[in-house]
Amino acid sequence: MENNNTRRNFIKQTAILSTGTIIGSSLFNSVLAAENTLKVENQVMESESENFQGNYSLPKLSYAYDALEPHIDKATMEIHHGKHHQAYVTNLNKSIETLDNNLVEHSKSLESIFEKMSKFPEAIRNNGGGHYNHSLFWSIMKPNGGGTPKGKLGDAITTTFGSLDEFKKQFSDASMKRFGSGWAWLVVQDGKLVIGSTANQDNPLMRLRGKGLKGKPVLALDVWEHAYYLKNQNRRADYIASFWNVVNWEAAEALFNS
Ligand SMILES: [Fe+2]
Repeated sequence: MENNNTRRNFIKQTAILSTGTIIGSSLFNSVLAAENTLKVENQVMESESENFQGNYSLPKLSYAYDALEPHIDKATMEIHHGKHHQAYVTNLNKSIETLDNNLVEHSKSLESIFEKMSKFPEAIRNNGGGHYNHSLFWSIMKPNGGGTPKGKLGDAITTTFGSLDEFKKQFSDASMKRFGSGWAWLVVQDGKLVIGSTANQDNPLMRLRGKGLKGKPVLALDVWEHAYYLKNQNRRADYIASFWNVVNWEAAEALFNS
């Protein structure tokens, strides 16, 4: 029974949507509800169960590579999802094979890895983070996105930042100021919305020493150059502006409510 539960949890936590939403821990369950993808989740889980080989896998997107045009271009999406994200998944699985036995047991879900992050080698941190971060990123974008967040998230943004425009300004600032490669985040930290950023493929769920951003992710923006260089070259600000046209507020709202 324990093995079945572990396996089921692993499958749930790593299978990400054919609808672009993340399946898994309680963190993600509301996303599924928002996207009405329970049926898809079951299909994916059944499929993953049949083909389960103990490996993490690349999630399918819920939209075509060109569906975020003209804001995020097809070529970038093809390479970003099909090459970069795939590489994180491949290298995560390879890195797990080299782990000592006492860590293998803790590598069966990304949540478990992040909870014991400081015990894992750097390759697991980089590639596990890369897998989680990108999976989240795909799920909080959609074609014809943008607009205004509704519900409790919209209220919380207004209460916390004064207005949606002010929130966008502060989030964009955090995205611009992240030196080199990394991610900008909106997280829930001690019950409050907080904007911040992390370097490389770190994320706010990782238990790491130091003062890094901690919290439950609601929004994530990849500010690695591979996310925008083909279309925007060095103009990160243009890419950030484009993000607001594809952001999936319903998915973010579901994460917030979870
Ligand atoms: Fe990326």
